[in-house]
Amino acid sequence: MKAAVVSRFGQAPRFDQFPLPTELGPHEEIVEVVATGLHPRVRSQADGSHYTSIGEVPLVPGIDGVGRAADGELRYFILPDTALGSMAEQTVIDRRRSVAIPSAADPIQIAAAMNPAMSSWIALRRRIDMPAGQSVMILGATGNAGRLAIQVAKHLGAARVIAVGRGADRLKGLGADSIVSLDENAQSVTAALGEAGERVDVVLDYLWGTPTHDALSAIIPRRADDDQTLSWIQIGSVAGVESAIPSAALRATNLHLIGSGQGSVSTRDIVSELESLAEAVTSDAFTIGARSVPLHDVETEWNRSAETTDRVVFTPSRGNE
Ligand SMILES: NC(=O)c1ccc[n+]([C@@H]2O[C@H](COP(=O)([O-])OP(=O)(O)OC[C@H]3O[C@@H](n4cnc5c(N)ncnc54)[C@H](OP(=O)(O)O)[C@@H]3O)[C@@H](O)[C@H]2O)c1
Repeated sequence: MKAAVVSRFGQAPRFDQFPLPTELGPHEEIVEVVATGLHPRVRSQADGSHYTSIGEVPLVPGIDGVGRAADGELRYFILPDTALGSMAEQTVIDRRRSVAIPSAADPIQIAAAMNPAMSSWIALRRRIDMPAGQSVMILGATGNAGRLAIQVAKHLGAARVIAVGRGADRLKGLGADSIVSLDENAQSVTAALGEAGERVDVVLDYLWGTPTHDALSAIIPRRADDDQTLSWIQIGSVAGVESAIPSAALRATNLHLIGSGQGSVSTRDIVSELESLAEAVTSDAFTIGARSVPLHDVETEWNRSAETTDRVVFTPSRGNE
């Protein structure tokens, strides 16, 4: 069968032949891949830099997608760490890591939204106990995961959402109650973050690196009540894989610094959230921009610098059209 094949880490995948396994495990089955998203996690899988990388090539990237099972049912699936990912005409899924989706649902939207939406959904439902009415700050709200985090936080009962990111214009109209643009001068950003963070309960952090250091330094001295829990959830690291955490931040306030992702949340817990998240996504609770691309264009698409934030979704079963 045809697939997107990575032969060397750091090189774009090529549309090439890749074998399907001849033997399947007890819960495994082969599905025809209808749609699969090009998430940042897929790029780090394909260049070997993700912390789960098993360092093996050749590999077919792709961590999730929508597949058509032999009985004709559409299923959203997540894959384990495997050399045969979802960017292939067919892949092997474990039925226990998948959920049925309504036949009327749009596979492109589901493949685009599930991974970025899951980042905040799992963080708020599995890493903390968030009562309704809390105040949530999204650090890095301009990407697909950040924009969905605004909608997810509201959907899960947040009373107030503050969107923080670069590009004030892009932050407007995303549904947040207030915005902090990181493009102002340093003094203004510190003042705005400090004020916004005075009573915030939860920070969903997609940035890390210097912006996290700067945000902690701005917020901690301004807390209205040092005893109030501040759950700071590390989710993404688009601004840096390391961040200098001021030691006083952990002593001076009730700061809970935790992470959310594959490993800190068990596969069982992630899987148990799939059904309710898929329901929210298919009932149009959230909006996301998506652009579908045939899989045979994978190499060109991979090397293209993104001019929009729309999530690219490959459509392997239409790959040879
Ligand atoms: N832990 C999890 O469960 C989980 C799940 C899904 C995603 N993630 C992670 O979440 C992060 C975001 O994913 P995504 O799907 O939203 O990616 P995305 O759609 O590519 O968006 C990335 C966003 O980050 C912004 N950005 C990049 N560098 C920045 C900086 N230095 N300061 C401020 N903003 C910056 C980009 O803005 P510009 O246009 O200005 O560059 C862009 O809007 C990734 O690290 C991803 O791996 C984690």
